[in-house]
Amino acid sequence: MDVSPPVGLLAELTHRCPLHCPYCSNPVELASRSAEMSTEGWLSVLSQARELGVLQVHMSGGEPLLRPDLPALVEHASGLGCYVNLVTSGLGLTSSRLDDLVSRGLAHIQLSAQGATRERADLLAGAKAHDRKLAAAALVKASGLPLSLNVVLHRRNHDQLAGIIELAERMGADRLELANTQYYGWALRNRDALMPTAAQLAAAEPVVRAAVARLRGTMEIVYVVADYHEPYPKPCMYGWGARQLTVAPDGTVLPCPAASAISTLSLSSVRDTPLADIWYRSSSFNAYRGEEWMTEPCRTCDRRGLDFGGCRCQAFLLTGDAAATDPVCSRSPARGVVDLVLSRPPASDLVMRR
Ligand code: SF4
Ligand code: FES
Repeated sequence: MDVSPPVGLLAELTHRCPLHCPYCSNPVELASRSAEMSTEGWLSVLSQARELGVLQVHMSGGEPLLRPDLPALVEHASGLGCYVNLVTSGLGLTSSRLDDLVSRGLAHIQLSAQGATRERADLLAGAKAHDRKLAAAALVKASGLPLSLNVVLHRRNHDQLAGIIELAERMGADRLELANTQYYGWALRNRDALMPTAAQLAAAEPVVRAAVARLRGTMEIVYVVADYHEPYPKPCMYGWGARQLTVAPDGTVLPCPAASAISTLSLSSVRDTPLADIWYRSSSFNAYRGEEWMTEPCRTCDRRGLDFGGCRCQAFLLTGDAAATDPVCSRSPARGVVDLVLSRPPASDLVMRR
């Protein structure tokens, strides 16, 4: 099959993080500091990615500000002609660090928040973080960079949705991403505590719709649905190995950020294989490209060009078979697994990310 070059690179510079969010989708086993790639390693990844066709680089983590070489990596990526986005908790962002990053070509900042009020947000972050995020947002606005605010939604903060939208307005965010929790990595452990109720989702709909209409032209709002509650799955990654690649802190190259959970996948590392070889020829990137791998009911389904059979990671985590139809799909023989999760009473304890 014809394989197009990737458009985006998610560069997970480190798994280290000052926050302890219970919805963290990073793997349960994190890469240690000693396993992280060197500056030279990352510079090479960025050069190879650009050569491959990548135009957008998202520097993420963990907390990418914990890497002292972040300015050099930003400068290198922007010098190659890439649009560089920093995905950050905001902790550790000072005026001088931001000025330095801007002077080196940083183009955009995506800041996370955990709730609308300090009390709730700090509880969910497991750290005194909210006020520091407000300060970070003010710095970003003063710098003139575009600001996106990302808030992961779940049972413990859906009631603050209107306040979260107000918070984004107060921050002057250009874009607000309201993303219901996706259950990968650490978040899967907390699924029964984080799953929003159908009533919460129904209440959210008019609030989001009204805000979208009211703020059109001022702030773009993106709402990521709670897929377990939907009849059809999300078009995850817009298809496997289709648009974006992820490089983990230790150099493992992933077709999607959660793919290390698929234990049947043989993953390659950029430490020993060129990025282009991995993108075009590796077994991991080719495993679920196109439609050949599909089983029924996806193989003959009229929606397979819309959702690509859903999410491979979710299929693996819920059925043990990464080639199965995403069990979120109402046409999947395994949909009962999802319905069972939705029927369970909520768990009261959140296990904070360690
Ligand atoms: Fe999508 Fe497969 Fe479900 Fe069809 S059967 S809607 S292709 S997940
Ligand atoms: Fe990996 Fe969906 S999260 S394919």
